[in-house]
Amino acid sequence: MRLHEPFIRWTGALLLLCPYIGAFQYPSKLDVSGSLVVEQLLKLATFSDVPNPAVTRIVFTPNDMKARAYVKDLMQLAGLTLREDAVGNIFGLLAGDGSAEGLVQTGSHTDAIPLAGAYDGTLGVIGGIAALRALSAAGFRPRRGIEVIMFTSEEPTRFSLSCLGSRAMAGVLSAETLARRLDENGTDFLTAATAAGYGRGSTQAMLDAARVKPGSVSSFVELHIEQGPELEANGTSLGIVTAIAAPAALRVRFSGDGGHAGAQLMPRRNDAGLAAAELALAVEAAALGTGAPDTVATAGRVDLAPNTVNSVPREAAVEIDLRDVDESRRDAVLAQILAAAEEIAARRRVRLQTEVANRDAPATCAAEVVAAATAAAEQLGASHARLVSRAYHDALFMAQIAPTGMIFIPCRGGWSHRPDEFASPAHVELGVKALALTLARLAGAAGNPGKAEL
Ligand code: GLV
Ligand code: MN
Ligand code: MN
Repeated sequence: MRLHEPFIRWTGALLLLCPYIGAFQYPSKLDVSGSLVVEQLLKLATFSDVPNPAVTRIVFTPNDMKARAYVKDLMQLAGLTLREDAVGNIFGLLAGDGSAEGLVQTGSHTDAIPLAGAYDGTLGVIGGIAALRALSAAGFRPRRGIEVIMFTSEEPTRFSLSCLGSRAMAGVLSAETLARRLDENGTDFLTAATAAGYGRGSTQAMLDAARVKPGSVSSFVELHIEQGPELEANGTSLGIVTAIAAPAALRVRFSGDGGHAGAQLMPRRNDAGLAAAELALAVEAAALGTGAPDTVATAGRVDLAPNTVNSVPREAAVEIDLRDVDESRRDAVLAQILAAAEEIAARRRVRLQTEVANRDAPATCAAEVVAAATAAAEQLGASHARLVSRAYHDALFMAQIAPTGMIFIPCRGGWSHRPDEFASPAHVELGVKALALTLARLAGAAGNPGKAEL
């Protein structure tokens, strides 16, 4: 018994000193419930055009508006100060003490591609709100304000261009480009945004209003599910992203003469659908041809007209998604696909129209954000690894205006853009805590930092 006394005394002294070692400035006992965040994600998933577990939620549709209302409610419940910009980005602010320049921002998207799941993007919004709520509940007062953002239309589903909200904030979206992107009913973004209560008099005025002032964002960090298999396969709990791959999108339209599927004899046909089928195979061959696993290309959408069984396809519109961490290699593959489209069109006697819908540069994550996220993972005692994001995110465009990084959590089987997308409540909780601690480090603690310690 006596032998243990010094041990107990020393252990007690060490425990008392603990708040002053390493974790002195940052709250370490954050109140985050993974199961509550998942409950909120599943509630958000109910705002869907299709029955759950599948989720379809397209920008400025009634379900997107319900999701927006829910996000705003959660922001208000978390005590955040709300604002919205001209393109419909929604912001919730945990105010800073004003002693340092610029906001630290986080966030992601809540729109969902057709037949998606409940976690893509939504984690970074609902989890971002939970992170700010936990920091505030822990008594953490930041120097810089910390803001969580629900970005408008990260997915390209409605206007055939990704990351509209973050492109607008970064000032890299031209009014001409945006005004030309019509949805399938011929509606442009400004009209849809105005109907949703956003917008300005013109597309240019709307974009000017949404653009952030230089220097107003001091850093950005996005929490997201990995959407790939590496973390789960390696038993790693957190991914610290070092770079985001460069996406491009290509639209190809083949037009033939169509005709009756019984009466039009085979030698007379110029079948636009068959040109599209050949192009899809050429896309696969071009991506495989680099020999690099980082090159990926997909002909994910083919629309035929008149799309009926007893007519030869007259029109075929193909949308191609192409990505690589190496931008010049991606551009070489893009050129190869365009050449293949020309060769197919000439040989099959169909007319051809092509449009490079976007060709974005890759992003390198900022050392200071990577370091903050790494320190947060270590403070939590979580296994972590550096990795590249092969998916694009709003972070790709925020990186153009502020030092940027991302935190990934594993998702089951690495699956995403599927109804069975899933991340465990434990990983959700860990991801939100890691985000909170990263934000706290980037924002700095106001006044006496010791007061922030739990
Ligand atoms: C985002 O949804 C992507 O396609 O990378
Ligand atoms: Mn997505
Ligand atoms: Mn996403």
